Amino acid sequence: MCGIVGYIGHRNVVDILVKGLQSLEYRGYDSAGIAVVDYPEDKNSIKAPAVHIVKGVGKVADLKSMLDSSPVSGRQGIGHTRWATHGGVTEVNAHPHSDLSSKLVLVHNGIVENYRELRAELAAPAESYKSETDTEVIAQLLSTLYTKYGGEERPAMIEALVALHKRLRGSFALVIMAKDIPGKIYCLRKGSPLVVGFSGEGEALCASDVPAILPYTQDVVYLDDGDIAELSAEGMRFWNASGEEFEKNHVHIDWDVSMVDKGGYPHFMLKEINEQGAVLRSSMAKRLAEEGTVDLSAELPWTKEEACAWKRIHIVACGTSYYASLVAERFLETITDLDIRVDVASEYRYRNFPVGPDTLAVFVSQSGETADTLAAERLAKARGARCLAVTNVIGSTLAREVDDILQLKAGPEIGVAATKTFMGQMAVLYLLSLYIAKLRETLTGDYERTIGREMLALPYKVESILQQQEKIQKLAVLHSEARDFLFLGRGNSFPVALEGALKLKEISYIHAEAYAAGEMKHGPIALLDPRVPVVVVSPKDDLHEKTFSNILEAKARKAPVIAIASEGDASLDSTADNIFHVPVTLPLLSPFLTVTPLQLFAYYVAKILGCDIDQPRNLAKSVTVE
Ligand code: AGP
Repeated sequence: MCGIVGYIGHRNVVDILVKGLQSLEYRGYDSAGIAVVDYPEDKNSIKAPAVHIVKGVGKVADLKSMLDSSPVSGRQGIGHTRWATHGGVTEVNAHPHSDLSSKLVLVHNGIVENYRELRAELAAPAESYKSETDTEVIAQLLSTLYTKYGGEERPAMIEALVALHKRLRGSFALVIMAKDIPGKIYCLRKGSPLVVGFSGEGEALCASDVPAILPYTQDVVYLDDGDIAELSAEGMRFWNASGEEFEKNHVHIDWDVSMVDKGGYPHFMLKEINEQGAVLRSSMAKRLAEEGTVDLSAELPWTKEEACAWKRIHIVACGTSYYASLVAERFLETITDLDIRVDVASEYRYRNFPVGPDTLAVFVSQSGETADTLAAERLAKARGARCLAVTNVIGSTLAREVDDILQLKAGPEIGVAATKTFMGQMAVLYLLSLYIAKLRETLTGDYERTIGREMLALPYKVESILQQQEKIQKLAVLHSEARDFLFLGRGNSFPVALEGALKLKEISYIHAEAYAAGEMKHGPIALLDPRVPVVVVSPKDDLHEKTFSNILEAKARKAPVIAIASEGDASLDSTADNIFHVPVTLPLLSPFLTVTPLQLFAYYVAKILGCDIDQPRNLAKSVTVE
């Protein structure tokens, strides 16, 4: 998962590339670099263009310092921020990379699985390569192919890219500039996202994701596998994997630039946690009527017959999206008679259970680019399942491969740790569950309206929690020295405990694990002592009493207990060491409220520890490799 950006136009490209990389840094940030080709103004000049490559280990800010101290300029360039796959985090492995004769320069996001055999096949001896990357081999192969096709402008490069696409195995988003083709940038995409746009004022851009393009245009084109794009000051042209030129559909992105900056917050993650009331409103708008009835027919034009023909529903995801799916599972099973299976995508794709036209397969992915989730979706689709994407990115690979889409409408999520998209996923999955139950007539109207009306109240209740952040901050101060945490929950509080533990470990690097509360006595209780805080998600519901026993068991081992409880519930006051109360709601809806204190707790602990909250070590926002 790397960030790629390219620009060609009338402005000095360096600032544009740096800003673009900064907006994509959530995709990977262990090293960064840019290449600028400064062609002579006079097209007939015999002067060779100057190719400047500036790159290094560290973040985009470090690259910017390098550029400030030794400025370069030009009107076209490409940039890359890396999450290392092949080769360690070193300057020489940082992108961009050139071929051995420096005919061209390129950046790459993805993994080419057959690069070793390609390197062996190429005439250049292995030791002549500067880096350990697959990318340098791609550059050398492309250069060889380009030379073979005559080194002429455009047709040769298109032919070379068509041939390259056939030779590479794996995933790749490539952005290329050739020294002898002034005024053009080429893109080739397979498996890793690439989006292109044209500002209409002689500026064309490409990027791994839309935040880098939004400042110039909201009208973009998502490349599909095999697509080749040529960008120039005149516009964009496209060829398919067979080298035939064709037109691509444009997509209007209804996000604006302000959404991709921090809006005065110290971190994107805190901004996005505080946007969750608005996200709930946006995800329910035009889907949930004031009286609490659900209607998704505009987005999911399913008939009763189709819905009744399904024997099972699979919900497949990774990470936080998987935990949102587990919450939804416990709701769905109360209102439908469907056989429900929820699984992590990296397991689902290797298991052997019935999937076919009688299966509704739901794939939950805020980015729509997670490799494991895409692989699982392709398997289910190949076996005839009806595939639905619950995603935040309308032009994502997942959204373009499935039969139906339900958008989160959460706006761009830049923080690597998912927060508002978790909230949006739960809301959309609950609405989907109600919609399916209505079609299959397993839901009474009164019950639908009761749930629906309470869902409409959730944004206000989430916002009342957000007004109490100082209480969470104080809790974080109390426990930021701990090196191990145990999170517990029963029923639909168990996936909330899983999500709370994930948030804490991924941004504070403190070991945190979650268990179904009833499981604690089957082993994890051995961990407990005064140094191991236990976070118990225990809203007022029919499992509250059972969870109370687990709190007593933890207290008996002198573990400090932090409880997330319902307002008005005093039963824990004399037992838990710290209690955070959330507003009362229907038990089936409690995850919408109990998760927010856990998100804030993770945030403030990480802040106290001085961690890089928006770009935690070793992580990337979208895991586009397996
Ligand atoms: C969540 O905080 C993590 N960044 C990670 O677990 C994430 O949820 C997972 O990689 C799935 O991403 P997706 O929703 O884009 O598929």
